[in-house]
Amino acid sequence: MRVFFLRGYALNSIKSNTLKVGICGYGTVGSGTLALLQGNAKEITRKTGVEIEVYRVASRSLQVDIAGVTYSGTDPFEIAGDGEVDVVVEAMGGFDPAFEVVKKALENGKHVVTANKALIAERGAALIELAEQKGVTLAYESAVAGGIPIVKALREGLAANRIDWLAGIINGTGNFILSEMMDKQREFADVLEEAQALGYAEADPTFDVEGIDAAHKLTIMAAIAFGMPLAFDKTYTEGISALTPEDIGYAKELGYHIKHLGIARLENGWVQTRVHPTLISTKHLLAHVHGVGNAVVVHGHAVGTTLYNGPGAGAEATASSVVADIIDIARAKAQGLARPNVPILGFETLRTDLKALTIDEIETEYYLRITAQDIIGVMANVASELERFGIGIDALIQKESDGKNVPIVILTDKARESELDEAIAAIEKLASVTAPVMRIRVESFGE
Ligand SMILES: NC(=O)c1ccc[n+]([C@@H]2O[C@H](COP(=O)([O-])OP(=O)(O)OC[C@H]3O[C@@H](n4cnc5c(N)ncnc54)[C@H](OP(=O)(O)O)[C@@H]3O)[C@@H](O)[C@H]2O)c1
Repeated sequence: MRVFFLRGYALNSIKSNTLKVGICGYGTVGSGTLALLQGNAKEITRKTGVEIEVYRVASRSLQVDIAGVTYSGTDPFEIAGDGEVDVVVEAMGGFDPAFEVVKKALENGKHVVTANKALIAERGAALIELAEQKGVTLAYESAVAGGIPIVKALREGLAANRIDWLAGIINGTGNFILSEMMDKQREFADVLEEAQALGYAEADPTFDVEGIDAAHKLTIMAAIAFGMPLAFDKTYTEGISALTPEDIGYAKELGYHIKHLGIARLENGWVQTRVHPTLISTKHLLAHVHGVGNAVVVHGHAVGTTLYNGPGAGAEATASSVVADIIDIARAKAQGLARPNVPILGFETLRTDLKALTIDEIETEYYLRITAQDIIGVMANVASELERFGIGIDALIQKESDGKNVPIVILTDKARESELDEAIAAIEKLASVTAPVMRIRVESFGE
């Protein structure tokens, strides 16, 4: 009797509970989201007690009706204004019209789920404020590291911790390029072409290879981790296009891999957020993430170091995160709540007292490659310039000469970036130095 009663109760509540979703943008993420919601509908309803119906889809060049969807069209504003729609999924990308569509949806009291990292990192503050005013949620799990539930990990799983730092490989395209350069000693431009042919890189790869995409994701993670406002303009960004197979090879000989990392650190009230190529020990967890994968390491004061690894992009992986956000909203509805009860950035009160450290104020170790004439005394000259600026040398290796020039590879001790800049300028002025100095930051994460 009791079992029968519980089943009957569950069925009733499911029938009376439907969450209507409108998807704006029917590309990789939008179509993946529809496929996952439809393909796993029974299981999702069993988990939430709510039936989730994709009621509308709108995408710029959509020509046909989509099976199982009541309205298919081309105008995302129709979805944002439709009184029947509970949740708007923004999967168009960019700012225009995404910002206005999300704004209109929030103004109309709809929850919004977006995969758009640029929108959240650069214009999210206004949208979050609007969502708060309207008592709805703005969810963005899929915007950071695709299928890896890092937003939830930072905001919920690690909520008890003071996060000291986090570091991640958060752009699969860049990591694919660096992995190929390392494994096969290939040039950057050559691998980029292959990445474009394989569909890993856009026709315009700037966002990926120059670190802008990673900076968007890092900005969002830092805001959640440290409880501070989104500060994309304070994130230092440097790409991977200047890296050479030689640097990758020399780093490996010294026991390091070069990875394009996003690093956020909070120390004594100072925050640093930076994206740049980084030498990390071959023993570090992140050194073993190859190809298009993403990974984030987070250090919490209580838990220690934790690692989150998985697919950072792709239709199904990204949809997994989009749908998880929709499920949160469905569960809230099933419990009679207006919205999921976790603050959008994880903090009821954001910290406004934290100060941003600029890149010239950071202190770290450095890899330097100096190209100089193959003449006696050149190593001593370089070493004495570093010494003049108080920069210690941890390792110094003279590589094989090509008959005219010789590469000198140096690992420095910890130094302040502004002092290193001055030392590099002085080294480049030496008559025997024939090319700009290559500088790559080294990170040990205190491990
Ligand atoms: N792809 C991934 O693996 C991934 C992972 C994480 C996050 N994201 C983020 O998810 C978002 C979408 O990425 P995506 O890869 O799915 O892009 P996509 O494949 O290019 O799809 C975007 C879709 O939006 C439509 N669209 C663009 N502007 C529109 C407008 N003004 N009105 C109506 N529809 C419009 C496009 O229509 P047309 O086909 O007519 O252009 C296209 O169908 C981006 O913010 C991206 O950064 C993507």
